[in-house]
Amino acid sequence: MARVIERIAVLGAGNMGAALIGGILKAGVARPEQVVATTHSAERAAEVSAKYGVRAAAGGNRAAAEGAGIVILAVKPGKIAGVIEEIREVLDGRQIVISVAAAMPIKVVERELGRRMPVFRAMPNIPVVVEEGATAVAANDAASDEDKELVARIVRAVGVVVQVEEEAMDAVTALSGSGPAYIYMVIEALIAGGLKMGLSHEVATRLAEQTVLGAAKLVRETGAHPAILRDQVITPGGVTISAIHELERHGLRAMLISALETATNHSRSRTRAMLDQSKN
Ligand SMILES: NC(=O)c1ccc[n+]([C@@H]2O[C@H](COP(=O)([O-])OP(=O)(O)OC[C@H]3O[C@@H](n4cnc5c(N)ncnc54)[C@H](OP(=O)(O)O)[C@@H]3O)[C@@H](O)[C@H]2O)c1
Repeated sequence: MARVIERIAVLGAGNMGAALIGGILKAGVARPEQVVATTHSAERAAEVSAKYGVRAAAGGNRAAAEGAGIVILAVKPGKIAGVIEEIREVLDGRQIVISVAAAMPIKVVERELGRRMPVFRAMPNIPVVVEEGATAVAANDAASDEDKELVARIVRAVGVVVQVEEEAMDAVTALSGSGPAYIYMVIEALIAGGLKMGLSHEVATRLAEQTVLGAAKLVRETGAHPAILRDQVITPGGVTISAIHELERHGLRAMLISALETATNHSRSRTRAMLDQSKN
């Protein structure tokens, strides 16, 4: 039977939680009066309520989750267990639980819930706040195809969504979760290079940000391998190839590959520690 979602609870309406509320409303998954949000402080609750027209309160996770068809856990990872403890009794196994907590395996959330129910682990990144997020989603085997489509619809409203097996989440964290930080460094360095060569701060910033945005858009819209697009910018003996020679000399590509390998391994060891800790 098709799910009828009468209420969605977003527990922890901070950066991620609020962006997801925006996605839920935009995708038409629920109307503002069907969304209940919680926060730690009354100030944040008032902000969220004013911005999205949803009910929001400081605390009250249990009341928010009661009767909700979808429960989104968007507090910091260290608070997930406490929040689940608060809401456990009002869950009956029919709700969909979506956790966005970084590094928190589905198994840990399942153990805390203490019952079989559809559990999703979403790994978004910070550009969800401007609806350009990259989110990977994994589900447990209690989730139906219909549940998966519903969750994808929510997340798609704040950017691009890919479905993955949970084992891929450490690599996802290294690539798209942390990725904005690497790209900010690239933009920062392009600005610095422009400044060194005499451009004004304003001009260098505008050109650097749009170059990154435009290059990414071209990769998406042409579907061409980036190496093909790069070659199209090069003219023999020209300016671009002289810069590329420098980038190759300093190992830009090898550096990024190593960074992702290190970050993935770091995330894997955190995942293992989290699983071990939850067994005890
Ligand atoms: N930011 C990212 O790039 C990113 C990427 C992937 C995943 N995530 C995950 O998203 C989750 C949220 O991160 P965030 O960046 O959105 O953090 P955040 O802005 O600090 O949001 C956390 C929210 O939880 C609220 N809160 C704290 N204790 C609570 C409680 N007991 N009950 C209800 N609400 C409570 C806080 O309220 P107050 O505002 O009143 O303190 C805050 O609004 C984390 O688990 C993180 O791992 C974040």
